[in-house]
Amino acid sequence: MGVRPRTWIAIVAAVVLVCCVAGVAGVVGFLRWNEVDTRGDVEFVNRLAIPPLAPSHVDEQGRRVFDLHAAPGRHDFGAGPVATWGFDGDYLGPTLRATRGEEVVVNVHNGLPEETTVHWHGMHLPASMDGGPHTPIAPGATWSPQWRVDQPAATLWYHPHPHGRTAEHVYRGLAGLFLIDDPATSVDALPHRYGVDDIPVVVQDRNFDGDRLDFAPSLVGMGILGRTIVVNGTLAPYQEVTTERVRLRLLNGSNSRVYQFAFADHRSFALVGTDGGLLAAPVTTDRVLLSPGERAEIVVTVRPGERLVLRSDPPALGAPLGRLFGGADGFDVLELRAASSLEPSPALPDRLVEVPALAVDAATPTRTVRLGDSTINNKQMDMSRIDATLAPGAVEVWRVRNDDGKPHNLHIHGVSFQVRRLDGTAPPAHLSGWKDTVYVAPEREYELVVRFPTYADPMIPYMYHCHVLYHEDQGMMAQFLVLAPGQSATPMPAHHRHHHHG
Ligand code: C2O
Ligand code: CU
Ligand code: CU
Repeated sequence: MGVRPRTWIAIVAAVVLVCCVAGVAGVVGFLRWNEVDTRGDVEFVNRLAIPPLAPSHVDEQGRRVFDLHAAPGRHDFGAGPVATWGFDGDYLGPTLRATRGEEVVVNVHNGLPEETTVHWHGMHLPASMDGGPHTPIAPGATWSPQWRVDQPAATLWYHPHPHGRTAEHVYRGLAGLFLIDDPATSVDALPHRYGVDDIPVVVQDRNFDGDRLDFAPSLVGMGILGRTIVVNGTLAPYQEVTTERVRLRLLNGSNSRVYQFAFADHRSFALVGTDGGLLAAPVTTDRVLLSPGERAEIVVTVRPGERLVLRSDPPALGAPLGRLFGGADGFDVLELRAASSLEPSPALPDRLVEVPALAVDAATPTRTVRLGDSTINNKQMDMSRIDATLAPGAVEVWRVRNDDGKPHNLHIHGVSFQVRRLDGTAPPAHLSGWKDTVYVAPEREYELVVRFPTYADPMIPYMYHCHVLYHEDQGMMAQFLVLAPGQSATPMPAHHRHHHHG
């Protein structure tokens, strides 16, 4: 039985239409399948945990001594216990706090079933004390780095850095804050009562699978992208506020996710500090973008009796397919509950501290750093290869580009740097201060001025890497040595390990 041509046309048209719709729906579905937006949906039922200040004592040599013990535990984020790792507890670690000029010692005991390291992110210190992948701590061993704190007041942090295993160790819960105070430049008008009007806010995304963490990486080459936010290890947290102004020390302690912090009512706030210290002056803004490892100190003014929600809005990743990498995701993060009457807080001063620009001239060496797909300058990390050598205290300009479509950032150990230019022009105000980690959007050029450490060591290098921990573990890391005049590099071979038994 024959089919008339018009029927054929109708059939073909219908098939084409169905395919097109399915195709478009498929593409849209693919772009969306991983998306998450919890804004407005979170009921803030758990009081925010405030990491305790780590106890310390001053020894006979005048050194401030801390002890940290890494061990497995079970932590209740707010919905029943989950298997985790922590320092001196089940999840995260205490806040270490020291004053500029002090000698510190940290006895780090490894009570984990495997080797780890502890890195002091943002600290200016000798490479042998920095806790990178060349200084592993065997299970059962204790490592006791010591150094003199000599840098501006800042919100630093610490976390493991074992070669190829950093993402898992941090995700399990090993991280904490390290605050530096500098009495010579302290700004007393900034809220500074820890846990009262100066609140640590460690933001992490997690996926849960019953009573364990879910380690499944995203399918987009970014490692784990969690669908649930925890702050200081608390799900759906609220914090009571009793003062007119509150300072939040925000740390993006997540493995991969970029946040764009803002308040639900879009009110403006003051950005007062970035990774390596306070800004020269408060910057009034209504959002702050933080990629993994970055910090921001903000001061927000609250009204009596209000409930104010800190959120992360979809971050401006500047990546063409950003929504695949969390660029369309939004989260409720933390509710601030203001008391019905608030203690007055001093007004913020117009100036905070001096941030002298690192001097650059025609003789300043320039180096290009290209971020690729799990590579830096087209190479993957090799523990036995030194990628750069520098003289103690050398200043260089680093031109950093992200040639890959994915979001990446760059973190440099042992230093604070300045962003000198972004695409050839002065950087925005929020990048005007000391940084040690900077988000690098695809196809833009970030010109950094870096003053390298003054501590020479011909054996142990400092790292620089993407702080998307999955990328770091995949080899998106390189290393530099600081060599005194006359020294030559004698790096440790990759298989050579110093174990510190204690
Ligand atoms: Cu926060 Cu190399 O690390
Ligand atoms: Cu670091
Ligand atoms: Cu990366």
